Amino acid sequence: MRQSSLVVVANRLPLDDSAAPDGACEWRRSPGGLAGALHAILQQTPATWVGWDGTVGEARTLPDVGTLRLRPVALDEDETRGYYEGFANSTLWPLYHDAVEPPVFDRGWWETYRAVNRRFAEAAAEVAEPGATVWVQDYHLQLVPQLLRKLRPDLLIGFFLHVPFPPPELFMQLPRRVELLRGMLGADLVGFQRPQAAHNVAQLASKLLGAEGADDAIALEDRVVRTGAFPVSIDVAEMRSLSARPYVINQAKKLRHDLGSPKKVLLSVDRLDYTKGIEHRLTAYSELLRDGRVKVRDTVMVQVAVPSRERVETYRGLRDRIEREVGRINGEYGRVGEPAIHYLNQPFDRADLAALYQTADVMVVTPLRDGMNLVAKEFVAARRDDSGALVLSEFAGAAAELEDAFQVNPHDVDGLKETLLHAMSAAPADLARRMAAMRHYLTVHDIHAWAQDYLTTLSFSSQSRTASIGSGSSIRSWPSPGKSNGAAP
Ligand code: ADP
Ligand code: G6P
Repeated sequence: MRQSSLVVVANRLPLDDSAAPDGACEWRRSPGGLAGALHAILQQTPATWVGWDGTVGEARTLPDVGTLRLRPVALDEDETRGYYEGFANSTLWPLYHDAVEPPVFDRGWWETYRAVNRRFAEAAAEVAEPGATVWVQDYHLQLVPQLLRKLRPDLLIGFFLHVPFPPPELFMQLPRRVELLRGMLGADLVGFQRPQAAHNVAQLASKLLGAEGADDAIALEDRVVRTGAFPVSIDVAEMRSLSARPYVINQAKKLRHDLGSPKKVLLSVDRLDYTKGIEHRLTAYSELLRDGRVKVRDTVMVQVAVPSRERVETYRGLRDRIEREVGRINGEYGRVGEPAIHYLNQPFDRADLAALYQTADVMVVTPLRDGMNLVAKEFVAARRDDSGALVLSEFAGAAAELEDAFQVNPHDVDGLKETLLHAMSAAPADLARRMAAMRHYLTVHDIHAWAQDYLTTLSFSSQSRTASIGSGSSIRSWPSPGKSNGAAP
């Protein structure tokens, strides 16, 4: 077995499902923030990615993708149900997103989750060379850091949570809260999107484990774990160069024409997920149409909602409700050849997404809770000038960074309606000021800055992993990588 000095462990491999007939593989760029973010930084770095290829049953043999080796982990039907659809996406996902859907606690799922986490840890241990860095990703694999440390104490282990970490009172609902916390704290560095998450974990570590916890480190019995906020970003340069391609520019012009220029175009792009606030925004738009404050002759909405986790009941129910509502709105307010909403339940390739972003006058991003929301950042990066408005939920991690967006509380439908109207009618000079500031921010805080910040901090963590509070090294005064964690408060 070939080994690597950098190993990424994430539930999903970034592989295109429909591998080409000649056996060639392409990056999957699956609809989801994690694969997109890591894709950008692993393209040119020799590394191994341990993950699941999304199919049920035996793992396929996968060729390398550029400098990246792929080490598949197979999931059978029971594991897919108990680990992926069950504990990861029906217990942890809703609980970590403020329980906007009630989390399901099923005792059988836990055993499967633990067994699958063990298999990921074993696979990582197998492909990591001595002293390698292993970077574990997201809530699916929260037990892997501790399991891996037992198997391979020589490794430098990082963990990054792409989703929010909940407030202690929600986390405390988890029947297996102690194991989950200990599992994650098996890492040398635990990274989050927002500082509040590190604070929540420190509180839980003192309450549940009797550890001494601060917002940047937690002292366990035998080791110290560093923690911190590292807001994830996008490959800004890639999105800019995509946006400058003649195909994208022409496609954007064509879309504008097809949508009925000079109408105002409202755009939303989401995985079809109940955390994204799609129903709240449809309610706001529908009421604006009802009240006559928006008319189909001068406004159109485009809602891209790519299918996601379709075997999970809550996702199927959401899709049915959204499709019914879109049908109702078009039935009541649309005109022949002039729908109020274009609804697209399909994946798009990157170039077509970039063209859509360029077409929009107002990008509407209204999650009820979101770790980051990379769609908001992609929209800003795809703009070729300082036009366009971003309406952004306060409950997306991105809101702490994109302060010049039109920020909104999506639960407040009246406030959302007013903000949509404000964004649609804002003066070009106001829009230009806001967009220029957001574009500038992203130029500096791109995905490469994120990876460098995280990996530099991880390497410092190794130097101080044996330090303890009692040995004179305060957990608050550890070496800093000399750079802030993305400038978010
Ligand atoms: P999440 O990680 O919860 O899905 P993000 O907004 O952070 O939310 O990331 C979503 C990612 O999925 C973005 O990179 C976006 O471009 C991509 N995406 C969303 N919709 C589609 C689609 N219809 N086709 C292809 N990619 C999509
Ligand atoms: C979010 C999660 C990722 C996940 C992605 C897509 O971004 O944080 O871990 O990969 O959604 O979800 P899926 O279930 O299709 O992998």
